[in-house]
Amino acid sequence: MSDRASAAVDLEALLAEARSARGRAYAPYSRFSVGAAAASDAGVFSGANVENASYGLSVCAERVATASAIAAGARRIEAIAITSSAAGATPPCGACRQVLYEFNPEMTVVSEGMNGERREWRLSELLVDGFGPSDIASGPSAPPALP
Ligand code: THU
Repeated sequence: MSDRASAAVDLEALLAEARSARGRAYAPYSRFSVGAAAASDAGVFSGANVENASYGLSVCAERVATASAIAAGARRIEAIAITSSAAGATPPCGACRQVLYEFNPEMTVVSEGMNGERREWRLSELLVDGFGPSDIASGPSAPPALP
């Protein structure tokens, strides 16, 4: 395990979950299958990309895994593993980076390609100066006075 990995998370096991989830991807349009597995404070939750005939409504594997974890009661994600049908290791898209940021900017992100390539980051490296819960904690400013 690399020294950047969260000590408590078994990234090998997490990647195995992501590989298994990729087999359940619904990707008839792009033919690009992705699996993800999130290690959270409520356990490990996996997801796969779910496409739609209305293409823009397709959801990435990382967000499916995240929503599954949060809906099960998780509030913190320590690490997320990603596997895709690309040859090399693919990074999470920008939308997924933002969604993940909510649940721990310092989480480990590990990705594995079909050729066995692995890449690993901290989420804060992938989304620098991200907008998160602390930025909205003070609430909205007072609404402007009506004319
Ligand atoms: N996709 C993911 O599931 N995760 C990513 O990080 C990038 C892209 C999906 C969305 C779509 O179903 C397909 O891959 C092609 O973009």
